[in-house]
Amino acid sequence: MQNEELSAARMWDNKFSREGYFYGFEPNAFIESKTSLLVPKGKVLCLGEGEGRNAVYLADKGFNVTALDASPIGMTKALAMASKRGVSFKTELLDLEQWEPKEQYNAVVSSYLHLEEPLRTKAFRQAFEILKTNGYFIGEFFSINQIPRESGGPKKPSLLYTIDDLKKVFDVEGAKLIYLEECDVALDEGNGHQGDALVVRVIVQKA
Ligand SMILES: C[S@@+](CC[C@H](N)C(=O)[O-])C[C@H]1O[C@@H](n2cnc3c(N)ncnc32)[C@H](O)[C@@H]1O
Repeated sequence: MQNEELSAARMWDNKFSREGYFYGFEPNAFIESKTSLLVPKGKVLCLGEGEGRNAVYLADKGFNVTALDASPIGMTKALAMASKRGVSFKTELLDLEQWEPKEQYNAVVSSYLHLEEPLRTKAFRQAFEILKTNGYFIGEFFSINQIPRESGGPKKPSLLYTIDDLKKVFDVEGAKLIYLEECDVALDEGNGHQGDALVVRVIVQKA
């Protein structure tokens, strides 16, 4: 669970029950910029996908998309956005604590999925394990150094990531670290992420 009182589903349902789309309608810019790495029409899993902005974008580009999230309201809004845009994708409504993945994917993408340890290592390693050979894990998350900034992200240090955290998570057999960097970015993602932010970006390929 994210904290002692609220499950991820309850916490994120509260946030997503507001009118509008908290992180907007456009895909995360880093994920969008790396779409060219992906096998055309390949299977892509959007992990912790929330209200669906990455899933809609990728489905529109012709990928076979699955969106996974714990929040029923997030997933319902994701499907509503898909329907408005004339695209479709599968959804998996579950808490990653209970995740037992069965399918394989050409890519897993994830933006701002902030998990406590040990769930973080479990879920990201599972995401890596389900990649097909040469598949990519592509992610952008807030850095621990984002804490003083007001442009978005959790304020609890244990939910934020460092480069070393991600290095350790993906220090597994067959994982090739293609890119791992802390970057200063200007976020313009709905009301949820606005302004200059410090993020950690990662691309891992399965050998
Ligand atoms: C900051 S939002 C990001 C949503 C989306 N990736 C985006 O960038 O628009 C974090 C998302 O992770 C999901 N999440 C957090 N903890 C989770 C868990 N344990 N299992 C499944 N989803 C979780 C939340 O429900 C929420 O949708």
